[in-house]
Amino acid sequence: MIILGLETSCDETAASVIEVNNNKKEINVLSNVISSSLPLHSKTGGIIPEVAAREQVKFIIPVLEKALADAKCSEAEIDSIAVTYGPGLIGSLLVGVETAKTLSFAWNKPIIPVNHLFGHIYANFISEIHNSEFIIHTSAAKIKFPLIGLIVSGGHTDLILMKDHGKIKWLGGTRDDAAGEAFDKIGRLLNLKYPAGPEIENLAKKGNPKAFTLPRPMIGSADFDFSFSGLKAAVAREVKTIEQLNNETISDICASAQEAIVNVLVKKTIKAAIKFKVKSILLGGGVAANQKLRDEFKLEIRNLKLEIPLFVPEKSLCTDNGAMIAAAAVFNYKQVPWKKIMANPELYFD
Ligand code: KG4
Ligand code: ZN
Repeated sequence: MIILGLETSCDETAASVIEVNNNKKEINVLSNVISSSLPLHSKTGGIIPEVAAREQVKFIIPVLEKALADAKCSEAEIDSIAVTYGPGLIGSLLVGVETAKTLSFAWNKPIIPVNHLFGHIYANFISEIHNSEFIIHTSAAKIKFPLIGLIVSGGHTDLILMKDHGKIKWLGGTRDDAAGEAFDKIGRLLNLKYPAGPEIENLAKKGNPKAFTLPRPMIGSADFDFSFSGLKAAVAREVKTIEQLNNETISDICASAQEAIVNVLVKKTIKAAIKFKVKSILLGGGVAANQKLRDEFKLEIRNLKLEIPLFVPEKSLCTDNGAMIAAAAVFNYKQVPWKKIMANPELYFD
């Protein structure tokens, strides 16, 4: 089976072709094209929805054509079209959904609507990524249920329990800022470029994580909720007291803030994994690209002698992409007629 995945929920315009073999055990990414309007948003320090959507209208066709060309795949070989229908920015979602509808009508192929949040989790089920130079293999086939999924992106921080495909229980989420949003807002306080996550990770390598004492909000609460706005406020207070921010202090703040965010995410996720006796832990979303987060998860699992395998998507599949949307469609294959699909910016876990 060959699936085309389209993703336009935020600022990316992404299309990917995946091939599914061996009773869904092998999901191979044949192409994964992503065009981002991020440089435009760096200038404004955040995404202006109208600007993002206008860029997506320009890029969706070239991105789609490149995805088909890279995969050496003709439209006739596509079995179905998976598309993100929510949550996200309405103007952006509409670009992907309307494109999918048009293709579905013109090519006579079914549409599978995909929840963007599931896409981040299903990035873990991809077993091979065909690059121009090499093939990356991942250990997707070993994922076992029940599992805990942590979605950490710019718009979401959610902890879910999955007993099987389609059997999902939402355990908790952020009450204010998302983890990625915390990285981005802290970056803004330090005059770093948007999105600040990757740069904070880089600067943190040179910094001392103990230099600033920052809070770990809700780390010990009995629920599975998160809160990051207090951490951002604490960093703002520290920054105010510093007369001049030099490179060393910036690196120290980055290291301290990153450690605070990572500590909370690891602690709460592991607590859920123990409580629900899960057989796998899956991370997903842009923040899952953070090496410190990956390392701390592994360390904590080892320290507690838990025999729970950790799965994290290949870094290029952590941030928004079309392959994860196509992969999610493989396991939640509910096709709808093109007239029935509607973008839903408020979509959550159902
Ligand atoms: O999943 P994603 O591409 O988009 C959303 O669905 O929101 O996530 C983007 C977020 C941004 O907030 C960005 O700062 C953060 O992921 N991010 C990172 C890293 N790479 C991206 N945060 C921390 N460390 C990283 N390496
Ligand atoms: Zn995302």
